[in-house]
Amino acid sequence: MPEGHILEVREVTKRFGGVTAVNHCSLAVQPGKIYGLIGPNGSGKTTLFNCITGLDRRDEGEIRFKDERIDGLKPHQVACRGIGRTFQIIRVFPELTALENLLVVSRKGGLAGNCQRAMELLEFVKLDRLQNEYAGNLSYGQQKLLEFIRVLMTDPELILLDEPAAGVNPTLLNDLLGAIRKLRVQGKTVLIVEHDMKVVMGLCEMVFVLDYGEKIAEGPPEVIQANERVMEAYFGR
Ligand SMILES: Nc1ncnc2c1ncn2[C@@H]1O[C@H](COP(=O)(O)OP(=O)(O)OP(=O)(O)O)[C@@H](O)[C@H]1O
Ligand SMILES: [Mg+2]
Repeated sequence: MPEGHILEVREVTKRFGGVTAVNHCSLAVQPGKIYGLIGPNGSGKTTLFNCITGLDRRDEGEIRFKDERIDGLKPHQVACRGIGRTFQIIRVFPELTALENLLVVSRKGGLAGNCQRAMELLEFVKLDRLQNEYAGNLSYGQQKLLEFIRVLMTDPELILLDEPAAGVNPTLLNDLLGAIRKLRVQGKTVLIVEHDMKVVMGLCEMVFVLDYGEKIAEGPPEVIQANERVMEAYFGR
């Protein structure tokens, strides 16, 4: 693994029957930066996240986190090593309160410590006044924020966010983007799947582009935006 990388995906391929969802994909992520992962619908972004987090088993290739192979590990083992992720489809528990949704996360620290951490995180995204509200009563955007901070309960070093901004109203989006930037200040590494190029441009230092499971480009967002192959992948068909 090249020095200074926290995550390295090397030649990873994942097939579902006849569909190659991820195709010999390689990417290297340095710690303390915000990376974007973009690509048209069905280009393999979520599947790549699933391979990294152990939900899908890659067919070929290697995945390393902090110099350790993780591609054979189960999801909870990957999580224990310090990788957190959110899901494209919200997975909050609607019949638990916002606070309870955070307390279901198993972490060291005892109930008092966990409550304190949960309250800090609710404040972090300005949801503290809704701590006792059932998650099912929160707006869609608030539920997405809640899912985002649930990932932070275990203080992961690498955070994978699968379209956290989709469907979130502008005010909550600002809170979310501010919180993600603060994570970077705390030294966290973030890999974010996002379709809105404005969000990507405002947040990410580096962007990876997938098309039909292959990485077709990589670079700073302004370079990616001017890349013809990327534009063709998005608009050319
Ligand atoms: N469990 C599965 N079984 C079969 N095919 C799958 C499965 N998961 C994903 N695929 C297929 O793999 C390809 C990549 O899907 P994936 O969900 O990873 O794309 P994506 O880039 O996240 O798309 P979107 O932007 O729509 O979320 C698609 O063709 C999809 O239909
Ligand atoms: Mg997806």
